[in-house]
Amino acid sequence: MAGEIQKVGVVGLGAMGAGIAQLCVEAGVDTVGREVTLELGEKARGRIAHFLTRKVEKGQLQQGARDAAMERLTLTSEVGDLGDCDLVIEAIVEDLAPKQELFRELERVCRPDAVLATNTSALSVTEIASAISTPERVVGMHFFNPAPLMPLVEIVRAELSSDDAFERAYTLGEKLGKHPIRCFDTPGFVVNRVLIPLLNDCIRVLDEARVSVEDLDAGMKHGAGWPMGPCELVDLVGIDVHVHASEALYEKTREQRMAPPPRLVAMRNAGLLGRKSGRGFYTY
Ligand code: CAA
Repeated sequence: MAGEIQKVGVVGLGAMGAGIAQLCVEAGVDTVGREVTLELGEKARGRIAHFLTRKVEKGQLQQGARDAAMERLTLTSEVGDLGDCDLVIEAIVEDLAPKQELFRELERVCRPDAVLATNTSALSVTEIASAISTPERVVGMHFFNPAPLMPLVEIVRAELSSDDAFERAYTLGEKLGKHPIRCFDTPGFVVNRVLIPLLNDCIRVLDEARVSVEDLDAGMKHGAGWPMGPCELVDLVGIDVHVHASEALYEKTREQRMAPPPRLVAMRNAGLLGRKSGRGFYTY
């Protein structure tokens, strides 16, 4: 088995990628973050700096540890700069073609022993891996939103993943302070297989039960012990992201409950995307 993961690349520094990069630098791992432009990279660096500063202000992190963590982050717009990473995590747009294209590029520039991981939530890891000639080094590392706060990471074994790549990704999950679970490359893996249809049911209940958004959220928080209500959660995840994941799971399983409720599709089409657009079920 190849050595410990000491340097990680994160491709795509949106909400998930920036959160993953934050976890890496906090865990003492040198991290190269790649965005399409350095300007976008700097925005992500600013968000990471903000959250680490909040931790200092709240007494959860020493100032020196915060500064050292920030120094471990380097930014680039070139995939070629990921050549000396031990493991690269892809967190770009949830579409198969651009992911496959990126993995082909990663295969060209990364060392042969580097693990290539995808943070996809609803696409098939095996299909992503099928684009390259060394699919054994591809695994899923599926983090949950917000990545720095949610303890789980699903370590996903694709059809051709090697034991070595799988275990190295698992070990990195532990090093990042997460609770990793091992799973296979089945639609939605474990959590989204349950959570996506459940959230879709919640949204359908809004209309069926003529309950208000606030009351549905209160119902699930106070009656089922959820940390946040389903409407708040879909707003947090992003209505476009949730609809896209629902469509991907519906396509694979043909289960009616996976299909996105029309109300959510209409919201997505209207640009009501939740927190990121300032308006979803709630206004931010
Ligand atoms: N990155 C880093 N730090 C963050 C952050 C982020 N993205 N977002 C918030 N924080 C920090 C903030 O600094 C905040 O502190 P301040 O407000 O003092 O600055 C701190 O975290 C705590 O924030 P909250 O007070 O909001 O924390 P909370 O105790 O209310 O918990 C929560 C927040 C962890 C999100 C909790 O509400 C929760 O567990 N919600 C459920 C989330 C969930 O189910 N996520 C899964 C979504 S599904 C998914 O991700 C799968 C998929 O593939 C789509």
